[in-house]
Amino acid sequence: VVPAAPVTAVKAAHWIDTESGRERGPVVVLVQGGRITAVNEGTDVPAGAKLVDLGDATLLPGLIDVHVHLTSDPTTGTGNYYQDALTLDVIDDAVIAPTLAKRTLDAGFTTVRNVGAPGYVDVSLRNAIDRGLIPGPRMLVATVPLGSTGGHADDTTGFSPDIRFEGPTGVADGVDAVRARVREDVKRGADVIKFMASAGVLSNEASVGAPQYTQAEMDAIVDEAHRWGKKVAAHAHGAEAIKMAIRAGVDSVEHCSFIDAEGLKMAKARGTYLDFDIYNDDYILAEYAKLGTPPAQIAKEKLVGRVQRENFRKAVEAGEKMAFATDAGVYPHGWNGKQFAKMVQWGMTPMQAIQSATWNAADLLGWRDRVGAIKPGLYADLVAVKADPLKDVSVLEHVDFVMKGGVVDRSDIGER
Ligand code: ARG
Repeated sequence: VVPAAPVTAVKAAHWIDTESGRERGPVVVLVQGGRITAVNEGTDVPAGAKLVDLGDATLLPGLIDVHVHLTSDPTTGTGNYYQDALTLDVIDDAVIAPTLAKRTLDAGFTTVRNVGAPGYVDVSLRNAIDRGLIPGPRMLVATVPLGSTGGHADDTTGFSPDIRFEGPTGVADGVDAVRARVREDVKRGADVIKFMASAGVLSNEASVGAPQYTQAEMDAIVDEAHRWGKKVAAHAHGAEAIKMAIRAGVDSVEHCSFIDAEGLKMAKARGTYLDFDIYNDDYILAEYAKLGTPPAQIAKEKLVGRVQRENFRKAVEAGEKMAFATDAGVYPHGWNGKQFAKMVQWGMTPMQAIQSATWNAADLLGWRDRVGAIKPGLYADLVAVKADPLKDVSVLEHVDFVMKGGVVDRSDIGER
């Protein structure tokens, strides 16, 4: 006879039903074998269950960030842009990644989509976490992002032609090459495909938003990825590149800075997710000059920062599909939650911001059968905060309790 797995009962005075967008409570969530087996309104704890009593706290599903880069952040570099570029390699990234994964989990982010990493470090990190060897969030990984020669994914742009970075590169030009490059990422373990539809900020091309692929190339990337059953995330700041990416059929556009009225209309019609990383600007403008970041990159940030936030507001007003996407890695991992207050400042209700990081993010990932809500059958990924996040969403910057797969990662809420 196989003994039944033990039952844990997580009890809290309030919980957020991210599927319906309502706050409810009190609740007792039953957990068995890493999954939620029941969500019982009330306070009854079944006999024999191990009680985790969170008292007056508010329980939410584990948070989801659909745009992170767990292989580095400003706290793990040398403190200097050129020193980093010339001395750090993929092994440095691999060594530090577990620490950054743990910081992310501790911050309540139990699922992330890693949209770009060097040397397939993200695949190894995801696999080690999934095998229970190291603590970290559930990960979907994009491996090496695709981009054109001289574009946002081409790491040697702006460096002397004598300097070559070894290792797998996502640089691919032309429809046949991009198809082959998608297949290579899939072969190496990608869950999702990421490509650079436009120029970017933290790279050395002159433009910040110009398209960097032709329509035919973008169409080919999306067609190929979808044939292999992989969703596609496109980095795009410029209005034209955003529309080209949407036309190609991407599942999400990342950054979205200069999206125009037509782009908003197209995204709405097709159900394309728009992922705005609207905390980033604060950190880049405060810290990046000190890191020796080329002034031209900081000048590009000044072109996108405010308009991106204004367009975030327009997207909220237009009722677009939006998922919580921070680009953590540009700023320190574990600070993901700082974006919630920005999202509310720029037009979302606290509930909308929370849904963007739970039920809606899960939809973008294709993981509504696993994460994003407190619901029977889903993973027992839970966070709790002592204060009400619907009154002050910034309390999600420091969650008080984190459980992943039924295992408590950390808790500041004492046993009662
Ligand atoms: N990785 C992005 C890029 O380099 C970061 C953009 C950050 N700026 C912003 N306002 N969101 O293009």
